[in-house]
Amino acid sequence: MDLGHALEATRANLNAEIESFFNSAPPLKNSVDIRNGGGRRVVCVTAGGTTVPLEQRCVRYIDNFSSGNRGATSTEYFVKAGYAVIFLYRRGTCQPYCRSLPDDPLLECFELTDESNIKVHELYSEAVKKAITEHRAAVEEGLLLKLPFTTIFEYLQILRMIALSTSNLGQNAMFYLAAAVSDFYVPWHSMAEHKIQSASGPLNMELAQVPKMLSVLRQDWAPKAFFISFKLETDSKILLQKAISALEKYKMNMVVANELSTRKEEVVVVTSSEKISVRRNKDRGFEDVENPLIQLLVERHSAYIESSSDL
Ligand code: PMT
Repeated sequence: MDLGHALEATRANLNAEIESFFNSAPPLKNSVDIRNGGGRRVVCVTAGGTTVPLEQRCVRYIDNFSSGNRGATSTEYFVKAGYAVIFLYRRGTCQPYCRSLPDDPLLECFELTDESNIKVHELYSEAVKKAITEHRAAVEEGLLLKLPFTTIFEYLQILRMIALSTSNLGQNAMFYLAAAVSDFYVPWHSMAEHKIQSASGPLNMELAQVPKMLSVLRQDWAPKAFFISFKLETDSKILLQKAISALEKYKMNMVVANELSTRKEEVVVVTSSEKISVRRNKDRGFEDVENPLIQLLVERHSAYIESSSDL
């Protein structure tokens, strides 16, 4: 078989795997339709980890690590930069505008003054006011749409729906894929319906590979959009090479490489010609690494839109 035919066969296989993934996934309860961005730039920010259920009536699942902080913080900076954000997040993870609040805001931020009155605790009054005001402004101006997922089935179905709905935005759409997505899963039709019984002894289970959606997302679902994916590793020696491979393999515009232990301090943005280190720097007013990171991405997205309009 020559190279052309081999590539065609690989692509046909991938398409068949993807088709089978979606055909066998449990259907979503709601659907998404984003028609008109009104000329505005729109970014889909994904955040949090996907789960892989082991039973259809799920008691146990495999999880992917992510607090959701990267996506939530980045969302705030994208809104500030004038983008409309579709925030596709794992239920229960970090939310935009809630970073300065304590872990249990309801119990820690409020106090009873008497039997029938509740007020915000002095200590948190500024943080609560800021969070409510900024969140409300983003929602009322139509700049923030929050869509939750839990399982890999929900995540990929919603992501596909968003991508297909934003295809009419052309180069104005951006995908910022910070979610930690499962690589392996139990196909729905081969999954036990009820709780797996421990009395049956040790559990042997074969996990199927989640089809590589990044390439179809990029090439078929939203071919004109600007794409940023992430690469997370715990071994710094292999991180950059893995990011370069992802950039080439999935034809991303940029890949953000981060190491687990230093991810809040530094990331390296890999493009086809550069490796740009982006750091948190309090002296320059960058309280978090997302501030300079989103600035850089917005600049590069502008250049991408401009260069596409020259064609
Ligand atoms: O949430 P925090 O605690 O703040 O941490 C942030 C983070 C470390 C989770 C984040 O910065 C990050 O690196 N996210 C990607 C983590 C990851 O494990 O990526 P991956 O190797 O599984 O996937 C690579 C890229 O492809 C990711 O952009 C992922 O969203 C995307 N992907 C992967 C597989 C798949 N089937 N579909 C995808 O979209």
